[in-house]
Amino acid sequence: MHFEGDKVKTQILNLLKQKGDYISGAEISRRLGVSRAAVWKHIEALRRDGYVVEAAPRLGYRLAEAPDLLLPAEVQDALKTQVLGRHYHYLAETGSTNDLAKELAGQGVPEGTLVVAERQSKGRGRMGRAWSSPAGGLWFSLVLRPAIHPSGVAGINFLAGVACAEALASIPGVQPRIKWPNDVLLQGRKVGGILLELSAEADRVNHLVLGIGINVNVDLDAFPAALRNSSTSLAAHLGRRVSRLDVLAAVLEALEKWYERWLREGFAPVITAWREWQESLGKKVKVVDAQGEWLGTALDVDDYGALLVERAPGVVRRVLSGDILL
Ligand code: BTN
Repeated sequence: MHFEGDKVKTQILNLLKQKGDYISGAEISRRLGVSRAAVWKHIEALRRDGYVVEAAPRLGYRLAEAPDLLLPAEVQDALKTQVLGRHYHYLAETGSTNDLAKELAGQGVPEGTLVVAERQSKGRGRMGRAWSSPAGGLWFSLVLRPAIHPSGVAGINFLAGVACAEALASIPGVQPRIKWPNDVLLQGRKVGGILLELSAEADRVNHLVLGIGINVNVDLDAFPAALRNSSTSLAAHLGRRVSRLDVLAAVLEALEKWYERWLREGFAPVITAWREWQESLGKKVKVVDAQGEWLGTALDVDDYGALLVERAPGVVRRVLSGDILL
């Protein structure tokens, strides 16, 4: 993980966690080859991050409580990926992690760079909508640099939906479904959304920013009133809190697996998996797209992920981007 400045702090945190009991300042200083004063300085920094580190004369330090934050040291420990998330930018608050990831991508950060914020003040959703991002959710963006033609990027929208569904399904009591193209639903209410943004030339992708928002421990009262009936959070659904760290690690692991598979094998396996999670096909839908709002029956998706909607008997329209209401 790329977070040089915090290396010693992270090592101290790991020692405290491993020990699970008091460890003396002298032992920490010996094991890490740093001065006692440096140990103390880093313990103070951990406390400022929200860790409760108890200190007792002669015994040393003990980690009593860790904050529920996606701090670099915690994420570093939890990730099971090789590439995704191995360069990490963490913020307590930002406008939109997608905007920051775009800026970083323009500066040349490597593939897989992850931007996480505890809160977003200008979270963005698909189709120019706002995305409510209070504390307790998982709001993150990844920089991807696939060497592909721009016409192929839609595959990422679908593989990201599949990865989120797979990851959430690993939580007992959670049975997610996907609404075309990639809204993640729990009992018909939206629990997660995906915003893919592209920087490309005519025949080549420069970079992509894949933004994912999952309402993990968000209190539904923190959502605008208009969203309360159509949205939910994992905590509201389960009646208990869920570790955001575990959800982040599981989503990234599934994403890496599907991203590599898509690069190797193309769209076919992705859309096959998507069909197993989706709950849009065969249903009467209201389509909201550039042409306004209209009704039809969702028949299928084509090789580009466009939704084929029968508007009148025998009249099938191809919806490449838009939204549907079931
Ligand atoms: C949707 O409309 O369903 C897509 C929502 C995407 C939200 C995520 S949260 C992290 C990233 N930053 C943003 O501003 N948006 C995406």
